[in-house]
Amino acid sequence: MGTEHVVPHVGRLLVLLPGLGAVTTTFLAGVEAIRRKLAFPFGSLSQLGELEGEGRRIAEALPLAPLEDLVFATWDIFPEDAYEAARQAKVLSERDLAAVEDFLRTIRPMPAVFDPQYVRRLNGPHVKQAPTKRHLAEALCEDIQGALEATGAKRAVMIWCASTEVHCTPAPCHQSLQAFEVALEKNDPAIAPSQIYAYAALRMGVPYANGAPNLSADIPALEELAELNRVPIAGKDFKTGQTFLKTALAPALRRRLLGVQGWFSVNILGNRDGWVLEDEGSFRAKEVTKTGVLETLLPAERYPELYGGLYHKVRIHYYPPRGDAKESWDAIDIIGWMGYPMQIKVNFQCRDSILAAPVVLDLALFLDLAHRAQRSGVQSWLSFYFKSPHVQRGEVVEHDLFVQYERLQQELRSFAALPPLWGVDSATTQRVFQ
Ligand SMILES: NC(=O)c1ccc[n+]([C@@H]2O[C@H](COP(=O)([O-])OP(=O)(O)OC[C@H]3O[C@@H](n4cnc5c(N)ncnc54)[C@H](O)[C@@H]3O)[C@@H](O)[C@H]2O)c1
Repeated sequence: MGTEHVVPHVGRLLVLLPGLGAVTTTFLAGVEAIRRKLAFPFGSLSQLGELEGEGRRIAEALPLAPLEDLVFATWDIFPEDAYEAARQAKVLSERDLAAVEDFLRTIRPMPAVFDPQYVRRLNGPHVKQAPTKRHLAEALCEDIQGALEATGAKRAVMIWCASTEVHCTPAPCHQSLQAFEVALEKNDPAIAPSQIYAYAALRMGVPYANGAPNLSADIPALEELAELNRVPIAGKDFKTGQTFLKTALAPALRRRLLGVQGWFSVNILGNRDGWVLEDEGSFRAKEVTKTGVLETLLPAERYPELYGGLYHKVRIHYYPPRGDAKESWDAIDIIGWMGYPMQIKVNFQCRDSILAAPVVLDLALFLDLAHRAQRSGVQSWLSFYFKSPHVQRGEVVEHDLFVQYERLQQELRSFAALPPLWGVDSATTQRVFQ
């Protein structure tokens, strides 16, 4: 058994990052600090995890790109370099930033494709101007080509780490690649900036993952392009804090068949992401991904007595004093033997970008691996990393963190030509637990 069917890693891998904010700068500073042996890759499966059942590190069993070979390019609506952007984000200490300042100073964002209709609370000067959205897409393709040449990389992946765009449902121009390309030419307002980035990436044969809740590549037109150009895509919305814990805790309650009457989730955060989420449209996008998880984890139709009346509410409040150190509370009302009520309280004092950075790293490396293993289209085995997994049309969305983990491991094993470990096809693991 081996990885002969996976194109080996050679040269450099370019990681393209729309959005040079808190998550991106924390990711960049962390990668460089790890490369300089100043930090340890806490939270990264690609760096620390084992291939289950093999007793070997994933990074030893599979030809992942090593951190030394990663190079970067970003876009933002503000022109500050990564060091200045990181200082403004206030996630990392001055001391940690000083240790990698020379590296961060070299990363200057390219002018962004931006539309204030999609992110209403921000506006910046560093944006592209062009007569049509097709021209904007072509400008992004040129940026990608330019970044490949400037860094000497032969391959790239793109991870959307820019602001959350307003909530949208798929429009007619999203239904086919042909309709999408006509709409680009006609400047159709239904095409969001994140979709122009995703389109440009896929046109250039670059895998794309969406770390925010907006639709982006989760539309038939871009799925079609991903299949056509044999490129993997994944999304949506990094699963890092409250939802990460929720999708671990809810399966535990479900396996014990305890009733759940209510689940009230509150968040306060004071970073720029929190500021953007104060806008109703962007909040709605986040609310949809955050509230969607319990319906399948605690299915009322299968257990009406346990989950029939479940009241699930999510609230996000912008609270500047906390910056990136988000705090979340979950008040969970559960029911036990003979109908007696009990309460669980979860208080997570987390750091948003500290949780997101290793997710960005794993996604970049796994998407690149999938591409070299000739995977294309929607990669639902990466659901482990997302609040609202982008799955193939008709496929059941899996939210259970542990089932997602098994599916991820099954897929990684398949890249090493190893048989499934749990004796079930990854696509059917869902049924085992119902
Ligand atoms: N744990 C987490 O931090 C977490 C979890 C899930 C999802 N996310 C999502 O990740 C994204 C990034 O989060 P963040 O905390 O870094 O936010 P941030 O506000 O610090 O950074 C986002 C950056 O994107 C830029 N931007 C906005 N529109 C752009 C465009 N069209 N092109 C290029 N740049 C653009 C902004 O100027 C800003 O610098 C957000 O959408 C957030 O919802 C974060």
